Formats: sequence, C-alpha cells, structure tokens
Amino acid sequence: MQVLTFLAYLVAAALFITGIRRLRTPETARSGNTIAAFGMIIALAATFFVIDIDPVLGLPLIGGGILLGGIIGAVSAQRVPMTGMPQLVAAFNGVGGGCIALVALSEFYQGRAETWVASTTGLLTIIIGAISFSGSIVAFCKLQEIAFTGSVAFPLQQVVNALIVLGILLLSANILTDGALAEAVGLPVLTPLLSLYITLGAALVLGILFVIPIGGADMPIVISLLNAFTGLAAALSGFVLENYALLIGGTLVGASGTILTRQMSGALGRPLGKIIFAGIAAAGGGDDEDDEEREVNDVSAEDIGSYLSEDSEKVVIVPGYGLAVAQAQAPLFELMETLESQGKEVLFGIHPVAGRMPGHMNVLLTEAGVPYEKLYDLEDINPEFEDTDAVIIVGANDVVNPAANDEEKDSPISGMPILEVENAERVIFVKRSLSPGFAGVDNPLFYDMDKTMMYFTDAKQGLQDITEAVKNA
Ligand code: TAP
Repeated sequence: MQVLTFLAYLVAAALFITGIRRLRTPETARSGNTIAAFGMIIALAATFFVIDIDPVLGLPLIGGGILLGGIIGAVSAQRVPMTGMPQLVAAFNGVGGGCIALVALSEFYQGRAETWVASTTGLLTIIIGAISFSGSIVAFCKLQEIAFTGSVAFPLQQVVNALIVLGILLLSANILTDGALAEAVGLPVLTPLLSLYITLGAALVLGILFVIPIGGADMPIVISLLNAFTGLAAALSGFVLENYALLIGGTLVGASGTILTRQMSGALGRPLGKIIFAGIAAAGGGDDEDDEEREVNDVSAEDIGSYLSEDSEKVVIVPGYGLAVAQAQAPLFELMETLESQGKEVLFGIHPVAGRMPGHMNVLLTEAGVPYEKLYDLEDINPEFEDTDAVIIVGANDVVNPAANDEEKDSPISGMPILEVENAERVIFVKRSLSPGFAGVDNPLFYDMDKTMMYFTDAKQGLQDITEAVKNA
C-alpha cells in the first residue's frame, strides 16, 4: 500500500507541475487548473490509505470536512466576480496557512514531534502558518475594503514588531529545550505547552501588524509573499507528517510564490524591504489642495468619436480596474472592431498590475475576443506611444499615473513603472469622476487641458457611445 500511495503522490506531483506550466497563457490556463485540481484529488484519495482513521469518529469528521470545504470552495469560486478574485485568493491562502498551523499544533499537542528536527520544523510550521493566516485575513479585509484600508500605521510599529519576533524566538527556545530556559530564568510557570500557545498568538498578531501598514499599490506583492509563506509552511508540515504530497505541493507553491514576489517587486520597482519595513503611507485621495478648482477638458462621446475617426491612425487602449467592474470588455471589443473597420491600427497596453490581480486584463480581453497578439506588455507598449495619436484609458488611473515618477513625492506608487501614455498625441480618459485609483494618488494628466480629454461616464455605456460616435462621424 505504501508503494502504491507513493506512486499516487508521484502522479499527483506530475499533474501539479503540468498544471502550473499550463497557467502561463490564458489559452491553456483553464485546463492547467483542472489538471492540477485532478492531481489534488488523487493526493487526497491516496492519503486515506496511509493514515490511521478511527472509522467511527474520524471518517465522518474527515468526510464532513472535505464535503463542507468542497461546497464552500465551489460555491465561492462560482459566485465571486472577476474583480473579487484577489480577495478570494487572499482568503483561500489564509485558510491554507491556518489549516497547516493547526495540523502542526496537533502534532505537538499529541507529542508526536519527538526528534529535535521534527519539533523545530513543527514549530516553524506553526509560526509561518499563523503569520500567513492572519496576514491573509487582513489582506482580504483591505481588498474587500471592510477594514484596514490604506496604510494603517502607529508610532514605533517596527519596534513592536521586532519585540514580538524576539519574544517568539525566546518562547521557541523554551519549547525546544522542554521548558529549561524558563526554569533557568525563574519562570517555571511558562511550560512548553503554554509557550506554544503564546507563540501561536504572537505569530497571529505579527501577521496582522505585518500587513496593516502596507498600502494600496503594494497589495499584489504582499499577497504573493503570503502565498509563498503558506507554501513554505505546507512543505515544512510535509516534513513533520512525512507526507510527500504536502512536501511537493508546498514546495511548488512556496517556490512559485517566491518567484512571483521577486518578479513583481522587481517589475514594479518596489524593493521588498521597503514595502515591509518602511510601511509606506498611502496618500489620501487627491493630494493637491486645490483639486476642486482645477479645470479639466470635459468632452462628449461625439468629440471623442470625431477625433478618433478623423485625426487618429494609431490608437492604443489601456484597460484598468474600472473596465472589469463595469464588465465593459465586450463594448471595448466592438470599439476595436469599429476602429479597425475604418483602417485604424489598434493595440492594447497591459500593465502587470492593471485591475486587481496578475493577468486580470489579459483574461478579460481575450475572453471578449481580443487577439492575444494585440495585448502588449509594459516594456513593449511604452516605445509605441511616441507615434500614437490617441490613447483611450478605460477605468484606469494608477497604471498610467506620471506621479509615480515624481521624485519629490513619496507616494504608494513612487518608483512603479507606468504606461507612459503622456507621450502620445492625445490622452482620453473614460471614467466616472476625478477620483483617483486604488493607491489614492491624484493624476496630473487629468488636468492637462491641451493633451487630455476627460469623458465622465460608466465604462460600458461610455464605450458604447464612443463606438456609435465613431460610426457616425
Ligand atoms: P485604479 O488605479 O484602481 O483605477 C481604477 C479607476 O476605475 C478608478 O479611478 C475609477 O474612477 C474607475 N472606475 C471604477 N468603476 C468604473 C466604472 N464603472 N466605469 C468607469 N470607470 C470606473 O486601477 P488600475 O489603473 O487598473 O490600477 C490597478 C491598481 O490596483 C494598482 O494600484 C494596483 O497595484 C492595484 N492592485 C493590483 C493588483 C494586481 S496584481 N493587478 C492586485 C491588488 C491591487 P471613477 O471612480 O472616477 O470612475
């Protein structure tokens, strides 16, 4: 049976790796997801044959857990709107971290972490899993805008964090020395089990304090980092439980989360140390005092239609979060077709963090029928703006905000590479108001009367009206 289970785990691991590989492009991503999920079913089923389950109590409990978890997972995945996906990822990640911490805790509680290696690994699993759990829940609340929105900071926050880390280290030493440390300093009340519970609590608090100061634009990086934490905790718990599926699955999640974190922080010009230790304060909406008095070039769909039809040859479309909220991808596709039918060249500029999750815009647009080769990444589209007649920015702000390059202001998007739309002949914003985006930073381009056209409307209706106007121009 052991050999069969091992083989089943090997098959599951191969399916996980194949699944992850297929996530590289939208065309194969769905099947990749299904393949990896199938691998997980195999791993789950195989595990039943290697663990001792009490048929009276254990089986119904585990079966009930799988059923309940499966139903909650399936229903929430079905119901969540595309725009709510990052919150769902944060929540699922948190549940994973919490679950792994509990498993390791039970191993300790039942005295199964006997060797020094097993107890150290188990302890690390509890600490990392707990940080990942509470940090992910805070990330969920921030993204859902339920609590901790913006950057929440208090005086001496870093000192408090450092003291908690020190406390966790001392308590861990006490646990690993079986209470000898507490005895030595005259605190015999601090038993290993009590130290374990306090460590768990401290790790939960650390997770909260670690994520609350992190502001808008850095959330994607933090979610990916927490994902890496959960993977690491799962891999460690694989050691403790001697379970290969957990070990391999956890290592894959940990490694891919780490690579994604490094890539995102590199691509966005946000060093991880700065995000974690500086607790960059999020600027409030509109940091220019005289916002309300500033004039903008407020235009109609007809104005845009005639400019596009008569004065534009090359058009770049930049979609953002507002496009996803308004579910305006189909009208956007129609606008593309209309412009192309008039002989215009139409490209799409996709910023890596446009929307609220990696790849958000690529998925929406390809699903609406936009050919994949029309979607240009940041590095590829930026040189195109010089000879572009019109950039249409639909429901986006942060990803095109030149304030990111303002060296005098430290804002949540400072240093983030942006789509350099200001280099185009004309910039057309389609959004409902002058309110800023997720990072809360006002955009100086809104007020450029010569270059910018502001069309204040819902993205879906606005795009339909512009398409009509182009046809009638
Ligand atoms: P944002 O800067 O958030 O701007 C979105 C804009 O959409 C808002 O200014 C809003 O303005 C407009 N909008 C909202 N609903 C609309 C509607 N129905 N019709 C028309 N416009 C609408 O978006 P972005 O430029 O895509 O930037 C993404 C931001 O999210 C970045 O800060 C990024 O770091 C963050 N983020 C990204 C991710 C990933 S991985 N992609 C994950 C979490 C967070 P009005 O209210 O005036 O309409």
